[in-house]
Amino acid sequence: MKEQLMAIQEEALEAIKSVEDQKTLQEVKVGFLGKKGSLTAVLRGMGKLSPEERPVVGELANQVRAAITEALEEKSAQLEQEALNQKLEAETIDVTLPGRPVEMGGKHLLTRIIEDIEDLFIGMGFEVREGPEVETDYFNFEALNLPKNHPARDMQDTFYITNELLLRTHTSPVQARTMREYKGEKPVKMICPGKVYRRDTDDATHSHQFTQIEGLYVDRNVRMSDLKGVLDTFAKSMFGEDRQIRLRPSFFPFTEPSVEMDISCKMCGGEGCSVCKQSGWIEILGAGMVHPKVLEMAGYDPAIYSGFAFGMGPDRIAMLKYGISDIRHFYTNDKRFLTQYHQA
Ligand code: DAH
Repeated sequence: MKEQLMAIQEEALEAIKSVEDQKTLQEVKVGFLGKKGSLTAVLRGMGKLSPEERPVVGELANQVRAAITEALEEKSAQLEQEALNQKLEAETIDVTLPGRPVEMGGKHLLTRIIEDIEDLFIGMGFEVREGPEVETDYFNFEALNLPKNHPARDMQDTFYITNELLLRTHTSPVQARTMREYKGEKPVKMICPGKVYRRDTDDATHSHQFTQIEGLYVDRNVRMSDLKGVLDTFAKSMFGEDRQIRLRPSFFPFTEPSVEMDISCKMCGGEGCSVCKQSGWIEILGAGMVHPKVLEMAGYDPAIYSGFAFGMGPDRIAMLKYGISDIRHFYTNDKRFLTQYHQA
């Protein structure tokens, strides 16, 4: 029996050595130590041994079982370690790989232009205000000296919501709103950027929604020369120190006198080219001295107060500044266009 036990041990250790996975190892374990295993079978025969032999063989059998169990445990630990190593190897992170770039957003060109203009006017003491895009007929027209049926209303094709409510066609209603709020008691010095709407058919130079920036300065003794100085500062800061401005007579119901401001054409230096339509000048904005009626309706005494106002289009300014030929680029969200103007 001793030989039998030694043979089983040898066989078992040999078998364990060559095992390569946990499942086979389990099978080997059952094959030797299980209920029907070969060691168990030998131990069953111990009853036939003499009382002297029994403890000796018993001890040996225990040693064999212990040796096999130890070998099984060792192998199991070894297999586990190997599996772990393999997993670690498979999951290794190559820290030398270059990172995946994160796509950064950027400010829309119009937002940037508007912010630049805001900064400039804040520097000259203006505050930045906002007004509603859904406006009343009163503030959009009447308070600006455009009574019902006034022919100048045709200058601005309007999206009406009801008879009294509309989408504002310009940022000028914020003039009236601000003066009202200030109750005719203190000076007003504000700009108002925002979206405006017109019932135009979209093409390269028209968009049913675009942007404007309104300006208003009301105080004692505000003069046309103040307007000219502010506009000249604006034009030079926006388009370059070498630019000239000129004011041309024009008409707006809410200003008297009214002007349009042109800047000298940079492309041709004033000689005349296709950009300036051979005139040497490019139209930038409308402006004028606030009409006494507009002051009066908003609660300012025109005998004491005077003011200037202006209205400009950031879309047009951006187009001139960057040579953009189609206003629809601003509103169709083609990233190939937009990303060209992102700042680092
Ligand atoms: N609101 C005018 C428009 O949309 C622009 C404008 C002209 C605004 C003259 C003004 C101004 O404040 O004084 O056509």
